[in-house]
Amino acid sequence: MTIGVILPPDATPASNEYIVNFVVPASFGWSGISMGGQMANSLLFTMWPNGNEIMLGSRWADDYVLPSPYAGPKITLLPPSKINSTHVNAIFRCQNCTAWDGGSLGSGNLDGTAVLAYVASTKTPVADPSDIDSSFTEHDQFAFFGVDLSQSHSSSYSKYIGGGASPTTTPAAPPTSTVPPSTTSGAPGALQTAYGQCGGTGFTGPTACVAGFTCVAVSAPYYSQCQPSH
Ligand code: HEM
Repeated sequence: MTIGVILPPDATPASNEYIVNFVVPASFGWSGISMGGQMANSLLFTMWPNGNEIMLGSRWADDYVLPSPYAGPKITLLPPSKINSTHVNAIFRCQNCTAWDGGSLGSGNLDGTAVLAYVASTKTPVADPSDIDSSFTEHDQFAFFGVDLSQSHSSSYSKYIGGGASPTTTPAAPPTSTVPPSTTSGAPGALQTAYGQCGGTGFTGPTACVAGFTCVAVSAPYYSQCQPSH
């Protein structure tokens, strides 16, 4: 398992977003990250594969119970994310993610040290892999690790958002589950562009993607995005 965190350059006021690189064996049932380093009162990310699709959600719990889906964080899977026969690699942007109910990244100091944790259910899959809100059973592994946030700020942050593309060609950051439904509309038969929204609650725009891209429910039922076909 590999986890990396990239923060935008220091700014005043501080940005509330970051990028996470999360690599886990494809055989795992589900895996997760706690951005607060504990289970309760932390922003939790859960991830599992659904066929070739990466299911990535935000959750929260106030106790050692199945965490509930957590609205607020805006998660966008970035283009280099992929699944192959051995690993799931999610690279995602999380906006509105440095503070949550009951805590904050680095206890509010984005130039200090943050204690994070990872968890995994190495054998047992979630109840319904196609449902981002699926129930699942407890992890069989967890461990803590420290991140020196002072070393995590990158002047190339905006390039990472574009998956390596220059900022000027970065696709517009799509809205996510917590943003009011997009009012974008498309002519019938119009095709959504790369990484554009192609579905979700209230969405009225094109639901088919340009060639080479497939509409993926990245945060069902709220948000689907045109991602490279595998
Ligand atoms: C059905 C779902 C879950 C159940 C029943 C559950 C239950 C538990 C229990 C009983 C412990 C204490 C284990 C011990 O001390 O030996 C624990 C620890 C932990 N859990 Fe979970 N968990 C669940 C899901 C998750 C998820 C989704 C995450 C993160 C994405 C997570 C993160 C953690 C972490 C970081 C710890 C260790 C730190 C702490 O004790 O707060 N858990 N969990």
